[in-house]
Amino acid sequence: MSDDELIAAARKAQGLAYAPYSGFPVGAALLSTDGRVFTAANVENASIGLSVCAERNAVAKALSEGTRDFEKLAVVTDSDEPVMPCGVCRQVLWEFSHDLAIVVESAGGRRATTTIGELLPHAFTSFERSDR
Ligand code: THU
Repeated sequence: MSDDELIAAARKAQGLAYAPYSGFPVGAALLSTDGRVFTAANVENASIGLSVCAERNAVAKALSEGTRDFEKLAVVTDSDEPVMPCGVCRQVLWEFSHDLAIVVESAGGRRATTTIGELLPHAFTSFERSDR
């Protein structure tokens, strides 16, 4: 799937963001290795620390639908510069893909691309999974 298509899916999800406290809606679209797309937005809470990023909501949605292997993530915001996933989301994304491609887009359509390996060098991987 092209970056354009995945970004478009993330933009659509951004419109569903619940972000009344930050005023910073984020949309994410996660492409699985079997070609499915899982979209999500950030969901905030009056207890601010309970807010959940769009990226982690996309991962939760995919896992809940039986998909655990991913190849690309698109993230869109209305910021001036392209915004990369936060540190918490990097660790959660790493859990399910060590070579995830990431494309992010700003309000004006400026894009930046990277990989999870670039964003989270020396990632924490202490435990061996017994199964997936
Ligand atoms: N946010 C995301 O959804 N993804 C990120 O990678 C960074 C931050 C959300 C969390 C919160 O709802 C708002 O953006 C402001 O931090």
